[in-house]
Amino acid sequence: MPGHKGRGYIARDDVTEIEGADVLYRPEGIIAESEKNAARIFGAARTVFSCEGSSLGIRALVYLLKTYALRTGKNPLILAARNVHSSFVSACGLNGVSPEWLYGEGGNLLSVRLTAESVDQALSRTGAFAVFITSPDYLGHLCDISALSEVCKKHGALLAVDNAHGSYLRFTDPCLHPVALGADLCVESAHKTLPCLTGTAYLHVAPSAPAFFAENADFACYLFASTSPSYLLLASLDDFNGKAKTYAEGVKRTAERVGRLRASLADAGYGLYGEEPLKLTLRPASYGYTGNEIADLLRSKGIEAEYADRDFIVLLLSPCNREESLAEAEKTLLGLKKRTAAGKESVPSPVVCGKAAEIRDALYAPWEEIPTEEAEGRVLSGLVLSCPPAVPVAVCGERLNADAVSALLYYGYRTVKVML
Ligand SMILES: Cc1ncc(COP(=O)(O)O)c(C=O)c1O
Repeated sequence: MPGHKGRGYIARDDVTEIEGADVLYRPEGIIAESEKNAARIFGAARTVFSCEGSSLGIRALVYLLKTYALRTGKNPLILAARNVHSSFVSACGLNGVSPEWLYGEGGNLLSVRLTAESVDQALSRTGAFAVFITSPDYLGHLCDISALSEVCKKHGALLAVDNAHGSYLRFTDPCLHPVALGADLCVESAHKTLPCLTGTAYLHVAPSAPAFFAENADFACYLFASTSPSYLLLASLDDFNGKAKTYAEGVKRTAERVGRLRASLADAGYGLYGEEPLKLTLRPASYGYTGNEIADLLRSKGIEAEYADRDFIVLLLSPCNREESLAEAEKTLLGLKKRTAAGKESVPSPVVCGKAAEIRDALYAPWEEIPTEEAEGRVLSGLVLSCPPAVPVAVCGERLNADAVSALLYYGYRTVKVML
């Protein structure tokens, strides 16, 4: 293996786990060395590479959390902010985990706002052993990880962060990376904000995490991963280790540029959202447009937004964006004629539905597909997600209420799978 025998332009470096090339989830040679270098860069006690995105890292993380709780006799409950990515829900289904959801206050379905006080209370009430949050979220909101970490430590609970969008936060000034701010465990997609190939990701175990996590992180990934990791992707992660210093300078420079762009758009009357230094999220209703309209306009100038819906448009920027593109985006947005405000934003709030079945049972249950308008009162079986952020509108096993139905319609779901 591989069948192409190295013939062809891309195939040249596409080897497999042969002698001298090490074994991804039993690393002792070049992969072990590269992962150690990455751990040093990210301040982790152990970093494990993924060639299958953060999705694999999250499945492994949930497995590690569950087995750790079972081995130590802790209450195996995980508290999770409801704006998780779908991979967390499927990880819970595969691992037989039933989290309790935190809905926060004042946010929206894609962006849950948690305070340290509310997490403190939830930990006191439930005795949960771990808290799972998504930070940054898809709209660029950053949780106060230092404060949440302090609260978790007070309760002897672990803090796990889905930092899929935030690898670059290691290089901001000040450093905003979850591991630096007190997270015990962190999963992130190198491919989203670093100059790395699609599919590359890290599972970081912080020095504060119990030794169990570093010792078993390889096995946890192995459980869910392909036995044929792509060496093109591993090489991309290794390549970044050598570029991190230069990239760090680029992150600081780009963050300043994005800060100036943000200020000029705010001055012109655009609503902005989130605190992430390299994500520009507009709420264009105040400027008289929908997010989709702005996305179409930018597309006509060769600029593709990361995400747009009626209420938001998200631009994900990096040091690899050319100044010409930023200048073109700025010129286009500032050149757009302001219209009277387009009415109120209609973004759904996190939906609170009653639980009728465990995630795992609902995922594997017999189901039928019915029109969404007829789904109120039925128990969800499949995954229904805002798309592309892939944040669950409702979680399988929940009984859909009227709010869930209207949020599903907002995200364009005409049919849903419900339990028979
Ligand atoms: C918050 C969040 N977590 C996890 C993932 C999964 O990441 P990946 O696509 O690298 O598997 C995504 C993907 O968009 C995401 O937005």
